[in-house]
Amino acid sequence: MKILVINGPNLNMLGIRQPEIYGNENYESLCRKIEDYGREKNLEIEIYQSNHEGDLVDKIQEAYGNVGGIVINPGAYTHTSIAIADALSAVNIPYVEVHISDVTKRENFRQISYIRDKAIATVMGLGTNGYIKALKILMGDNFL
Ligand code: DQA
Repeated sequence: MKILVINGPNLNMLGIRQPEIYGNENYESLCRKIEDYGREKNLEIEIYQSNHEGDLVDKIQEAYGNVGGIVINPGAYTHTSIAIADALSAVNIPYVEVHISDVTKRENFRQISYIRDKAIATVMGLGTNGYIKALKILMGDNFL
């Protein structure tokens, strides 16, 4: 069963953007880490990143019928996007919410997540290792 890893806006700027919050690892290195883990565990993984809300909605819709689990870090859209939350509900694919930083310890505007209530888990504050933890959580479920 295929797993889709989705990253939202500004995650392509990893390694450049606020390293004191998001670390020094760049986006390519994050992708490599996920791909290496997928190879080790024999998982089919697609990684997708976009800075555009509608593109993220399109990608989630395209997953319908093709993907068994989603790992998603919607970036700032976590806190604003009903459209992304609706798309995840529409396709009804189990998903894990990931944040590199611990958003609970940050600004008030980051305390809302429109995708959290329907996620099978939320992983945050583990840096880029959070994506691996999210994959493990998805694999632990019987749908895979
Ligand atoms: C983030 C946290 C969000 O609040 C922020 O807008 C991001 C990244 C994280 O991974 O910690 O872009 O999702």
